Amino acid sequence: MIYSRIAGTGRYLPERILSNRELESMVDTTEEWIRTRTGIERRHIAADNQATSDLAEQAARQAMDAAGVTADDIDFLVVGTTTPDLIFPNVGCLVQRRLGIHGCPAFSLEAACSGFIYALTMADRFVASGAAKCALVIGAETLSRIVDWSDRSTCVLFGDGAGAVVLKPADEPGLLSCHLGADGHYGDLLYHPYGTSRPQKPEDTAQPFIQMKGNEVFKVAVKTLEGIVDQALSANNLERSAIDWLIPHQANIRIIQATARRLDMPMEKVVLTLPDHGNTSAASVPIALDVAVRDGRVKRGDLLLLEAFGGGLTWGSALVRY
Ligand code: COA
Repeated sequence: MIYSRIAGTGRYLPERILSNRELESMVDTTEEWIRTRTGIERRHIAADNQATSDLAEQAARQAMDAAGVTADDIDFLVVGTTTPDLIFPNVGCLVQRRLGIHGCPAFSLEAACSGFIYALTMADRFVASGAAKCALVIGAETLSRIVDWSDRSTCVLFGDGAGAVVLKPADEPGLLSCHLGADGHYGDLLYHPYGTSRPQKPEDTAQPFIQMKGNEVFKVAVKTLEGIVDQALSANNLERSAIDWLIPHQANIRIIQATARRLDMPMEKVVLTLPDHGNTSAASVPIALDVAVRDGRVKRGDLLLLEAFGGGLTWGSALVRY
């Protein structure tokens, strides 16, 4: 039996940091409101000349270095993103070109904040079936481009960044399980109102920015994440105490605390990057993973629960023996 295992991780955050204090001069908010209601203190914002593929490329290079692989080794490339540079070529192909990788499948997929977990699941299926021997999996976003910077209810939440992992085959797991889910009936709780194919109607008055019913998203997120946690544990016949680290999607500290409570897990066992990065959507889980790997908290052999939740609505989890 072939399993997939994470061979290396990487991340990239743009240089520019936007603090809560600066936001006070942009919208009617306070540093204290943002910090206490969301857990966010600052976020990184891409430079004018940086697109999602630029961030993705840097994270990918780090992950490839950490895994000790070169462009010639990569035979599968997938990027989870909601903010592609272009409609096509897809971000996977843009990154493939930058990295000098030729011929392998390269694509991006849209599952909003769950994009990385979706991408990881695709890559796991290819590696575990023997169809790929070295998969590059990226979550990358420039959400600052689709946020209304005059809307205090959304602009304080999001940031830009990218995270990546390299998956390789192994005799031992590895990725123990991945679970994905979605419910399109909740689509109007969190969405971006513009695309390419839907004809505009006179009643379409929304601005081309993220639209969110924050309160309702919050409630569905907490409930769904509880279900995700239980599903991952029971599918693997594991007790809650077996999990060494929770690596959650970084959307709101109160949502993360609720998931930790469900796991009976102290917050010291939760990898939290939210204060520094805000919600980087598909990038948040791989960034948090890389932070904890590089600062030495996550060690080989640790059991990690990765989970995410986002627009669609979409959700997913991955139980990982690192
Ligand atoms: N600064 C100050 N006040 C703000 C504010 C801001 N940045 N944003 C909203 N408010 C105000 C609201 O206008 C409201 O005022 P009112 O009572 O006078 O009407 C009040 O704060 C409470 O708003 P509410 O939306 O009920 O706050 P909340 O406690 O639910 O927190 C979120 C708002 C967005 C932080 C929270 O709902 C949340 O995090 N939801 C999930 C969002 C999410 O995770 N999205 C991504 C999913 S991947």
